[in-house]
Amino acid sequence: MDIYDKLMTLAKRRGFLYPSFEIYGGVAGFYDYGPLGSQMKNNLENLWRKYYILNENFLEISTPTITLYEVLKASGHVDEFTDLTGECPKCHNSYKIEDLEKPVCPKCKIPLENIHPVNLMFPTKIGVGNTRDAFLRPETAQGIFTSFHLLYRYAREHLPFGVVQLGRGYRNEVSPRQGPLRMREFSMAEAEIFFDPNNKTHIGFNEIKHETIRLNDNIEEQVLTLEEAVNNKIIHSEALAYYLYLTQSFLLDAGVDREKLRFRKHASDELAHYAQECWDAELYSERFGWIECVGIADRSAYDLEAHTNASGVELIASRRYETPKKVRIKRIIPNMKKLGPLFKEKAGRIKTILEELKPEDDEINVNLDGEEIHIPRDCYEIIEKEETITQEKFIPHVIEPSYGIDRIFYCILEHSFYETEKNNEIYRILKLKPIIAPIKTGVFPLVNDEKLVSIAKKIDKTLRDNGIQTYYDNSGSIGRRYARMDEIGTPFCITIDYDTLNDNSVTIRDRDTTKQERIPIDNIVEYISSRL
Ligand code: GLY
Repeated sequence: MDIYDKLMTLAKRRGFLYPSFEIYGGVAGFYDYGPLGSQMKNNLENLWRKYYILNENFLEISTPTITLYEVLKASGHVDEFTDLTGECPKCHNSYKIEDLEKPVCPKCKIPLENIHPVNLMFPTKIGVGNTRDAFLRPETAQGIFTSFHLLYRYAREHLPFGVVQLGRGYRNEVSPRQGPLRMREFSMAEAEIFFDPNNKTHIGFNEIKHETIRLNDNIEEQVLTLEEAVNNKIIHSEALAYYLYLTQSFLLDAGVDREKLRFRKHASDELAHYAQECWDAELYSERFGWIECVGIADRSAYDLEAHTNASGVELIASRRYETPKKVRIKRIIPNMKKLGPLFKEKAGRIKTILEELKPEDDEINVNLDGEEIHIPRDCYEIIEKEETITQEKFIPHVIEPSYGIDRIFYCILEHSFYETEKNNEIYRILKLKPIIAPIKTGVFPLVNDEKLVSIAKKIDKTLRDNGIQTYYDNSGSIGRRYARMDEIGTPFCITIDYDTLNDNSVTIRDRDTTKQERIPIDNIVEYISSRL
């Protein structure tokens, strides 16, 4: 059994992860989070929120997971979101070519056939009868881009600003064989940060520029300061460098082993269709090697431009000139005396559209309720005049840190897993960071004596009232109870014993040092809270 097998056995037995639909034989790429897993995932996501919402002051939104065909056509996913796939003529299994050294079936050892790109999105239909085509979203990002104009207004038209979304994404992976590291339905945490392309700096860069980071640019791997990485153009903007650093801080805080973290730059032939530059935060797993867990991409103006062109709604920002400019501008002046009799109740709306149009062609057609309407030349005048303009419009650029929560979750478990021997038995400990651990404190009456039990239950309730997740356990020896808590990563255990009746104190045991301290009952909440 390697660490993966040991961990997955523990994860199932102790309620972290269960294979989904197991009673029907299961299906690759789907996992349930059990009671402890759900709690730990919430803790991980809430730590992420602390970084991005509290510290960076970004805006969180929540958009549908079912996404219109038109959105994903414009974003390039319908045409580009594919994996090159081949089929074995003997066993009929399909394989992703990228995962293989040669296009040969790993089982039957014969060349794969019918090699072609397969789209990874799950298609669906909205409605009945008069349906609309849609997909389960492959990323949460598109829901942010399609509301950019509203979010920009919410952000009081200042750049940069960031918007985040946590939620499910879906990819119909060709042949997922990496357990929770390649799920078909998975949890993402994404931030889209909108920048003026002339200014991809970050206000916090100066504070962190001397911090170091392990970078692999596919040529060499080196530990550099962020300032060196930007000055040597290994990372192309301060803003991108800042988000690599933020990602490193978050991952280390969440319990990733620093030695098992590196940032790898995408080679030009592996960049996603929307990305100009992309770095993956990779975490090392003993069975699977380096795993992409976070992608930090410069998506440039790709998405906002694509949706502006496809929808006709301008997803743009504006920047003020230092000194206003005088320019000659052509404007359309609608003539209501002509428009009114000709277009009747539609005339008002046509007038509004005409006023917004740039007079580029001699012929003007407007689109109203899906109908193309020709506007005769005598219905408007074109005048040219000098105007003072104070700002110009542009399409913002986007930097996107995109986190695969399930992969990070698995790697934290793996990096925290320790196995020793105690009394001729295997002893397992998950050294989870207190902030991530699903249960923060075990609460044990030493024996089932009503006097101790009633104090233990009171302490348990007080901790819960203060938002601290506990596990009350009064069965088995204290050693067994510690072992149960160590195995699920509980950082503290409180024991109520007969001395408690005299000194109003309890014993608090630290999981990692196994040291025990005597603490007055009144100080327990503060003691535990300060260590979370
Ligand atoms: N939004 C990043 C990704 O889809 O991987």
